[in-house]
This record gives sequence, C-alpha cells and structure tokens, in this order.
Amino acid sequence: MAVLDDIEPLKQSALAELRGAADLAALDQARTTHLGAHGKFTGLLKQLGALPKEARPAAGKAINAAKTEIETALAEQRLALEQKAALPREPTDLTLPGRRRRLGHLHPLTQVTEDIVRSFRRLGFVVAEGPEVEDDYHCFDALNTPADHPARDTQDTFYLAAPGRPLLRTHTSSVQIRVMEKQPPPVRIIVPGRVYRRDNADATHNPTFHQVEGLYVDRDVTVGDLKGTVEFVFRELMGPETQIRFRPHYFSYTEPSFEIDFASALTRKLGKTWLEIAGCGMVHPQVFENVGYDPEVWTGWAFGFGIERIAMIRYGITDIRRFYENDLRFLRQF
Ligand code: DAH
Repeated sequence: MAVLDDIEPLKQSALAELRGAADLAALDQARTTHLGAHGKFTGLLKQLGALPKEARPAAGKAINAAKTEIETALAEQRLALEQKAALPREPTDLTLPGRRRRLGHLHPLTQVTEDIVRSFRRLGFVVAEGPEVEDDYHCFDALNTPADHPARDTQDTFYLAAPGRPLLRTHTSSVQIRVMEKQPPPVRIIVPGRVYRRDNADATHNPTFHQVEGLYVDRDVTVGDLKGTVEFVFRELMGPETQIRFRPHYFSYTEPSFEIDFASALTRKLGKTWLEIAGCGMVHPQVFENVGYDPEVWTGWAFGFGIERIAMIRYGITDIRRFYENDLRFLRQF
C-alpha cells in the first residue's frame, strides 16, 4: 500500500534534515517542510482518506507513531541549538580584570551590639530576649515603679488600643522580670533589644532606639563585681585606657543605684572628660520578692545602656537619626 510504504522513507528524511539543522532558523525551516500545514507528513495524513476503511486505523497509527518520533527529534535538536546559541561566541579572556561585586555588611548598630554581646559572652553571660509589646506589670510594677512614677506617664509610653492596654516596652529591664519568673537563680543574662518612647525625633532622641540590659544574680554578689564587669566590657568596647566612675543615682529597681560615666580618648575628642553612659545598681529586694527569689539568699546587679549612644560616641556621630535613614553614603562608612 502506497501510504504505508511512504512512511518510513519520509520519516528518515525528516529526521535527517532536523538533526542536520545548523541553527534555529534552519530547524524551523525543516519543521515547516515536514510537519507544517502543507508539509510532507501532513500530506501523508491527507491521503488516509483514500484508503479502504479497514486499512485506515493501522495506517493512522503508523503515521502518528512516526510523527511522534519526528517531534521528539525536533524538540531535542531545538534544545541543543538553543544551548549552543547561549554560549559566548568568543572564548573567555581569562586575563580580564574581575567584575567587582560590592558586599553588604552589618549596620553599625548591629556591629556595636555584637561587640557588646561578645564581651559579655566571654564572661559567661547568655543572651535573653523578651517581647517588645509588654504589659504594665513587667515594664513597671514588677520593677517596683509605682503607678504615680513619671516614667508611667502616657507622655513617655506608647500604649496600644487593645484589650488589657498593652504597651511598647520603654526599656529592656522588663526582660529581667520575664527571665527571673521563668528560671531559678543563679542568672547571668545580657539582653539586647529595641525599646520605644514617646519622644520627638531630634539629634539625640528617637521614638525607637536600642538598649542592652545585663542581669547577674547569685550569692554574695557585690558592687565591686558590677564595677569590674562594666570596666572590662567598656575597655574592650572603647579602648584599653577607658576609665569608669559610678555616681549615685535613683532607679526604683536597684538599691543602691548609680549612673556610669566613662572617660577616654573618645570623650576628650568630644571636649568632655566624663560622659554619662549607663544606669546600674544592686537589684532591689522588692524585685526579687516580685519574682519569687528569696532576697535573704540572693543578691545581684543590673545595668542598662543605650546602644545608639555608645555607637555615636565610638564613631563620632552627632545625629542619632542617621542610624535609621538607610542612606548608603552613611552606612558604607562602617
Ligand atoms: N532601664 C534604665 C533606662 O532605661 C536603665 C537601667 C538602669 C537599667 C539601671 C538597669 C538598671 O538594669 O539597674 O534608663
């Protein structure tokens, strides 16, 4: 039968032409010649109608099998030619200078935070975290800050319009409470984190900034331990000739309380001998009572300082808002 006899030779010539196509244009040409609406293979299909009825299924099947084979070859050749087209025409010049890719790096506040955390880790402290959305109890009450304390004023605190009047923590001291509620003493934690206050942004204030909190609870802990620890960390952070001094102060959650001043080449550069840098003190017995620690057995100290302030002094930055603008000209300098 003429149609059946034609299939094999037509298929072979189609396969040969497709596989021999040197580029995508030649391939497309070969496809039209064989599989197009007026192509040779299509012509074969048209002849089916002339066959006796009983012969049609077998012939149709044979033609379709051949067609599938041709289409597979077409797809394979197309892929091969496309891959070839994607390769560079000229050999690579390995002597050309490399293309520079600018690497990103950590934000200066992250760098300072990591430096602080690293120093404390060397002393055996572990990092703890707590929620930024807090409640009155953990942010104030448990820290012995009475309801009429100015820090409780709505001027200073962002409250959320939600049941239970949650607030954005004004300091990381709330995490002291969260940690002591969860674990028995001894405690040695460092808490870096974001805090919020209702301040208008200016060169030295921003409604959100960062603090690092430290808490050390054990038996027979002294102010000497506190001072030695703070001195060690600040010397690592601000240079080996850094000096530390404590001035009496008031915080409701420590007794006695101090403000920490430091002096170094950096403060002299800013025209000052001493600069205030942190608050600290011996944990108030009432705070221990609030978390269920026995104040007759346990003693401790705590401190808190602002990360932006340290970064500003360290790098000589005069406007806190630079940290949040994401201006690459600023960030690339660190
Ligand atoms: N929470 C204080 C603040 O935000 C800083 C501070 C002072 C933290 C004394 C302490 C501390 O843990 O003992 O200004």
